[in-house]
Amino acid sequence: TTIGNDIDKAIRLLTQGGLVALPTETVYGLAGNALNGSSVAKIFSVKQRPSFDPLIIHVPNYAALPQWVISIPGKAEKLAEQFWPGPLTLLLPRKPIIPDLVTSGLDTVGVRCPNHPLAHKLLNSIPFPLAAPSANPFGYISPTTPQHVHDQLGGKIPYILDGGECNVGIESTIVGFDEDRVIVYRLGGLSVEKLQSVIGNVEIRLNTSSNPVAPGQLKSHYAPRKKLLVGNLDDLIAAHRSNVAVLSFKDKRESIPSNLQRVLSASGSLQEAAQNLFGMLRELDQTEATIILAEPVPEIDLGRAINDRLKRAAAQ
Ligand code: TXA
Ligand code: MG
Repeated sequence: TTIGNDIDKAIRLLTQGGLVALPTETVYGLAGNALNGSSVAKIFSVKQRPSFDPLIIHVPNYAALPQWVISIPGKAEKLAEQFWPGPLTLLLPRKPIIPDLVTSGLDTVGVRCPNHPLAHKLLNSIPFPLAAPSANPFGYISPTTPQHVHDQLGGKIPYILDGGECNVGIESTIVGFDEDRVIVYRLGGLSVEKLQSVIGNVEIRLNTSSNPVAPGQLKSHYAPRKKLLVGNLDDLIAAHRSNVAVLSFKDKRESIPSNLQRVLSASGSLQEAAQNLFGMLRELDQTEATIILAEPVPEIDLGRAINDRLKRAAAQ
């Protein structure tokens, strides 16, 4: 597996049916030609992802949409107009050209236009959309740097396109449409507040079970190998005196050695906290600690998505 910024090489590999790790503003994706069943099958096998968990496809712009979906509700158009390219995935009725394997047999397909210059250039140079889940083994923390991808998928894919560190740091917000209602199925890099500023009230319907029919929001996900506990940090530290690593929102804990703790954002920025979340969880997962202790962040804006990830990462 090599890491580099050779777009032509990425295009060649993808065109031949191979997989390439794709930089986006949210997390790195494990990309393949969405119209090629064998490429899509490779994605599931490299990720060890169960086939009931559908993939999203990536497009270069809004104008590409009608090739892959049957219809676009007015509110979806409005959201794309406002937030694409960006961390927003729209669930729309798929055309039959999108293989069953991509959508796990559902009649909707998740579509996203990523806001990243390399991804944009790549998507504009190929005639097919890219199916890309996050480039991590199923259930583990999502990757936000090329090195994260290499650490886990090294040897399993030929090429990692290096687009630097992801600046949003958590996955896209997933939105579906039911008649005139807008439903948020996954909290993510576009806040509910921003969504509502454009289309008014939305319903939040996050999955807590492994119900394959609804969006694949498995209860345990984004998880480090070590045990993770989320709660009042000082209480947790008092209750678990030894072998702990600590992930705090903005305040350092003096009782914990600095190599065993990370602060998501010293200035209290939720945007910075989101960007740091997965990388810091990975770092703490590699320490000699046996348990990671973390605290929730304020439950507003991107904080809702951060808390959602922490909760799932802590679920056993
Ligand atoms: O930010 C992102 O969305 C990243 C980057 C690479 O674009 N991708 C990503 O993909 O997070 P993935 O596969 O890790 O998460 C996509 C989620 C899954 O939980 C899947 O179950 C859900 O989207 N999903 C995909 N298609 C769906 C559909 N038709 N209906 C409901 N849920 C769907
Ligand atoms: Mg994922």
